[in-house]
Amino acid sequence: MKRVACLLAGLLAVAASAHAAPASVPTFTKDVAPIVFNNCAACHRAGEVAPMTLTSYEDVRPWAKVIKNKVVSREMPPWGADPAHSLKMRNDRSLSQAQIDTIVAWVDGGAPKGSDADLPPMPKFAEGWTFGREPDAILEMPVDFTIPAEGELGVQMFYSKVPWSEDKFAETLEKVCVSTVESGQMTKDLAILISKDQPWLTTEGFLDALDENLQKRMASA
Ligand code: HEC
Repeated sequence: MKRVACLLAGLLAVAASAHAAPASVPTFTKDVAPIVFNNCAACHRAGEVAPMTLTSYEDVRPWAKVIKNKVVSREMPPWGADPAHSLKMRNDRSLSQAQIDTIVAWVDGGAPKGSDADLPPMPKFAEGWTFGREPDAILEMPVDFTIPAEGELGVQMFYSKVPWSEDKFAETLEKVCVSTVESGQMTKDLAILISKDQPWLTTEGFLDALDENLQKRMASA
């Protein structure tokens, strides 16, 4: 009886492995969907800027080879900063080398779907304004302007009347910059003007300090 059970278990294991993709090939639901949903779907979903939706296996599968080329060449997701010569930005949407390798291995392995149970939920995307709140003011274009479908345009300048009489935000931002520096938080170029013992912050640290102080000031405005 025990031998039969063993044999059965062996058969089941063979049957199961015949259906699953080889362990080394990533699957869409487990490995690729988290990358695509978090890094592509913001633009590649209904109503957004990109030409096709990438919000399901059925959407993504026909584009597999093109996606591989675009992520390897780093054309997608679009990210203008050169990672070798810039600071890591907070909203950096470029893929890591490991994420690119995962997509390549998936496409080269035949782009298998994987188990539905592995599929992560789609992130919640903000509707309308993505800044987190309504804008303080919306400036209308002073004239109608049609962008031609083909060709290149030089820089276009449009001038609009600002709808308030005092420079509210600019003034607050300027005051926050001054008070932040006066409180002793500054970058190295300013610190060495004061003394060689003056402590200083990295550019990122200084921007964080400004951000924090501006948030506080805006909240109390
Ligand atoms: C910021 C918005 C944005 C993000 C994020 C983005 N895309 Fe795109 N994508 C576009 C736009 C706009 C186009 C069409 C214009 C172009 O091809 O440059 C496009 C085009 C493409 C194309 C070419 C389509 C064609 O017709 O050949 C592929 C493939 C693609 N994206 C894949 C991806 C993948 C994969 C990701 C995530 C890793 C991604 N995109 C992230 C905006 C985006």
